[in-house]
Amino acid sequence: MEQSAEGVKRVFLDTFGCQMNDNDSERILGFLKNINYTRTSKPTDADLIILNTCSVRDKAEQKVYSALGRFKDLKDERPGLILCVAGCVAQQEGEKLLKRAPYLDLVFGPQNIHRLPDLIGEISKKRGRLVAVEQSASIDESEYGLSSASDKRAFVSIMRGCDNFCAYCIVPYTRGREVSRRSADIIDEVSRLAEGGVKEVTLLGQNVNSYGVGGAEVSFPELLRLVARIDGIRRVRFITSHPKDISVGLIRLFGEEPKLARHIHLPVQSGSDRVLKAMGRGYTASHYASKARLIKSLHPDIAVTTDIIVGFPGETEDEFEETIALLRDLRFDNIFSFMYSPRPLTKAAAFDGQVPADVRSKRLQRLQDAQRQITLERSRELVGKRVEVLLEGAPKPGECEFSGRTSCNRIVRFSHDGALPDSIVEVVVTEAYPNSLRAEFPVHGK
Ligand code: 5AD
Ligand code: SF4
Repeated sequence: MEQSAEGVKRVFLDTFGCQMNDNDSERILGFLKNINYTRTSKPTDADLIILNTCSVRDKAEQKVYSALGRFKDLKDERPGLILCVAGCVAQQEGEKLLKRAPYLDLVFGPQNIHRLPDLIGEISKKRGRLVAVEQSASIDESEYGLSSASDKRAFVSIMRGCDNFCAYCIVPYTRGREVSRRSADIIDEVSRLAEGGVKEVTLLGQNVNSYGVGGAEVSFPELLRLVARIDGIRRVRFITSHPKDISVGLIRLFGEEPKLARHIHLPVQSGSDRVLKAMGRGYTASHYASKARLIKSLHPDIAVTTDIIVGFPGETEDEFEETIALLRDLRFDNIFSFMYSPRPLTKAAAFDGQVPADVRSKRLQRLQDAQRQITLERSRELVGKRVEVLLEGAPKPGECEFSGRTSCNRIVRFSHDGALPDSIVEVVVTEAYPNSLRAEFPVHGK
C-alpha cells in the first residue's frame, strides 16, 4: 500500500461494547502495526479511522450512526482519509452501511480482521469501497496471536461465536457459530504475553464452559490448569460462563488452582421461570440458585456477578418481582442490568406483549436501586480483610496514589510514598465505597 513520506501512518480506533470487542481492537492494532500504523487519540490527525461497533442493544447501535455522522465532515476536508466500520454492526448491516453512509470506505466483520492489511491496500490503490463480512466454520489461526497488548493485563480469545440462540440475543448472528481455538495455540499466545510482562490473563468466549465441545483436545477446566501453569502468569480470569453449562468440576477447581481469580460472572438474566423459558436459557431460577449457593458454600470469598434484562416481552410485574427477590436472596457482588431491546433477526423481537419503554425504564431503576445497597453491603464485608492487588499503572509524577484490582475484581486505591516491591501487593481494606475500596499499604502486624 502507499505510505506517507515518513512511512508511518496514523489510526484512530474507537471501541464500543464488550470485552470481545476490546480484544478485537487489540488484534486490529496488531495487524495495523505490521503495516506501519501507529495509534492516535485525535481523529483530526488520522489517516485511518475505525469504529469497532456493538449491536447487542439498539442504543449501542445508534451511537455508531451518530459517531459516523461526526466523521463525515472530516472526510470532506481530507480526501485521503479511510473511514471503516468494524464489529457487530458491520456484520449485521454489511452492504447496507455503505448505502446509508456514502462516505464510508470499508465495512468488515469480526471474522475478517486478519484481512485488514489487504483490504486497506486495495482501498488505497483503487479508492473502491469494500465489504468483508464472510463467516467461516473453522478458525484460521492467522486471525489470532497478534494482540498488541502492552499492559500487565490482557484478554485472550479462546473461542468465537455462540450456538445458544437465546431469544433476545443477536450475538449468534453477528459472531457466527461456536468454534474453539486449539489449546496449544492459546498456550502459545499466553506464553508470549507473559514473556512481554503480562501478569493477568482473561480467557474470553461467549460461553467458555462449552470450550472444546465437538473438537478441542482438552476441556475448559483442563485449559485453565494449563494456562495457570505458564511462568509469569499470576492470575487467570474467564468470561462468560453459562449457568446451564458451568460444571461442579470447574467450581471445585477454584479450591485447587490458586492462580484462578476469585470471581465468577454468571449471567442469570431473570428470576422468573416463565421468562427464563421464553428466553430459552435452559435453566430455572432454583437451578441457578443452587449453583450460586454451591460456589458460595465451597468458596465464600468468590465474588459472583451477573447480567439481568428487565422488560423482556410478556414480563409481568410479579415476574419482575421474582427477579428482585432473587437479587436479595443471592446478594450478588455486582450486576450489569439492561432494559430489553428488540434486535433484528432474534425470536423475541416478534413475541407478543412487548413491554412499553416507560415500564422497562422504571423496572430498571428499581432493580438498580435494590442492587446498589447490596453492592455496598458486600463491599463493606471486605473492610478489615487482607486482599491482593494487581497494580494498574503508576502514580502521576508528584503523587503517591496507587490503584489496582483485587482478585475478586474490585477496584482498590491506596497511598504509598515510594516504589512498590512487586506488581501484586497485599493491602488491608479500610473503607468501602459503592464502586471502589480504600486500603492501607504496607500491612502492619503480620
Ligand atoms: N436487550 C437487552 N439486553 C441484552 N443483552 C443481550 N441481548 C440483549 C437485548 N436484546 C444483555 C444480556 C447479556 C449481556 C451481554 O447483554 O444480559 O448477558
Ligand atoms: Fe447471546 Fe445467549 Fe449466546 Fe450469551 S449465551 S451470547 S446471551 S445467545
